[in-house]
Amino acid sequence: MINKNSPVGVFDSGIGGLTVAREIMRQIPNEKIIYFGDTARVPYGGKSRETITRYSRQIVRFLQAREVKVIVVACNTASAYALDEIEKETDIPMIGVVKPGARVAAATTVNGKVGVIGTEGTIGSSIYSRYIKKINPQVTVTGKACPLFTPLVEEGLWEDPVTDEIAKRYLAELLDIGIDTLILGCTHYPLIRSTVGRIMGEGVSLVNPAYETARELRRLLEEKSLLNDEEARLGDNRYRFYVSDAADKFKRFANSIIKYGILSAEIINIEEY
Ligand code: DGL
Repeated sequence: MINKNSPVGVFDSGIGGLTVAREIMRQIPNEKIIYFGDTARVPYGGKSRETITRYSRQIVRFLQAREVKVIVVACNTASAYALDEIEKETDIPMIGVVKPGARVAAATTVNGKVGVIGTEGTIGSSIYSRYIKKINPQVTVTGKACPLFTPLVEEGLWEDPVTDEIAKRYLAELLDIGIDTLILGCTHYPLIRSTVGRIMGEGVSLVNPAYETARELRRLLEEKSLLNDEEARLGDNRYRFYVSDAADKFKRFANSIIKYGILSAEIINIEEY
């Protein structure tokens, strides 16, 4: 039976969504989390809307089978392509990362020039631009797809001359335009935040939608009287991780991103869902 002490489901194509899970752990530490990383099918960024929607639907079914009370789509590409469709198919409340990120960016920019970096799917969908313009039509939003960032992050090259060089090429256009706010529109990118920040310089505010997503999750749980009221106890195994492949590699990464001690990452066959 789903109740306020049921877990929160969080999913991404791989390790990127851990940046969102980490923020949920910080802001609402009482919540239990079931995380799914689709490590067999990452990256999502260059795949079609149909494929991403099919993958997301399978993951939602898996999380439903684990009796989660709410689902956080901790992947910009899935939020851009699949969220509208899959949230109609279930009663479980869902939130994505795009709306919260768009809200912060609209509130942060002073010169009205916002940049967004993300996967080809997220940038091609223009979803950030649409949400930001709904809030403030005067803001111009320039998107730049950075398809090589996801594999660089998944390979652990977070601080590396190769990542630096590629980031310089991707970001040159946004520097020329003179944006003052840059949305890290892919959940993998906060892991190379320092590289991006160094290249963009101090005058550019970096927006990580993860922080605002965790705040929105808290608001949603409060509104639905679903906040977990059990006290978190030391040694509790509140967080469970599932992947579709390469559990050991995922565990290593997860341990370097989340400092709460990952006990296990279990492989499941997501195609069965
Ligand atoms: N982390 C995902 C996102 O936020 C996608 C990375 C990928 O799988 O291409 O878009």
